Amino acid sequence: MAARVPGPAVTAVHAMRFFSRDVRPAIRSRREQPREDVISHLLEEGYPDKAILIECMTYAVAGMVTTREFIVMAAWHLFDDDALRARFTAGDEADQIVILEEILRLEPVAAMLHRRATEDADLGPDSVRAGELLAVNIRAANVDPETVGACPHALDPDRASRQKGVGSYMSFGDGSHRCPGAQVAIAETRVFLDALLRLPDVRLERAPDMTWCDGLMSYELRGAVVTCARA
Ligand code: HEM
Repeated sequence: MAARVPGPAVTAVHAMRFFSRDVRPAIRSRREQPREDVISHLLEEGYPDKAILIECMTYAVAGMVTTREFIVMAAWHLFDDDALRARFTAGDEADQIVILEEILRLEPVAAMLHRRATEDADLGPDSVRAGELLAVNIRAANVDPETVGACPHALDPDRASRQKGVGSYMSFGDGSHRCPGAQVAIAETRVFLDALLRLPDVRLERAPDMTWCDGLMSYELRGAVVTCARA
């Protein structure tokens, strides 16, 4: 009979392996020769190894889970809309980015951000006291017509240039904690989808099932099936 290994133990083993195979060698090489990157910066700030490991795991989770969900969501929109897909495959890099940012505006992977107020403040209709927790509803902010213009629920890649705004609006957050991986996420998605949509007779055979992850306040897409012809 197979013994059941508790989940936290498995996580700890993965973390140890990630540390010994990837993080520790990266720390060593940057101690010898600092580079222009996050680990070198953390070493400069005097972070211990464990804190650097946690930072690397944060990047992995914050970066991979979000981007994975977004890639499926963007693909779904593009498969479902022939005109949009034609514009995407014919477009240059800048136009493809604009399309992806507009999809991300409508489909923010992280729908809610939380902040603790550091001082009393008057926020228009509401006021907040120091120490209170604020929830920022990104999904709602991204469809506020005062910011994004008319027909806020319509997918319109030219919206951001008309409004002179940042295409993804609040989907990567804002301020000092704005997502440092925003460009990587959009670039990864763009390169992958550009290659995918050029496959012969590529189609979405089965649309994904959508569920909701309460912890992250984000959508999860599972079970999509994409098919193509042999080249
Ligand atoms: C479509 C993909 C992504 C979305 C929608 C996204 C969204 C966000 C949002 C909304 C925040 C702000 C959280 C807050 O203010 O509390 C954030 C933070 C962060 N993101 Fe991303 N992200 C994505 C991809 C990535 C990638 C690829 C990386 C790493 C390469 C990354 C690394 C991080 C990190 C480290 C933070 C924390 C920043 C801080 O607290 O100062 N993200 N992300």
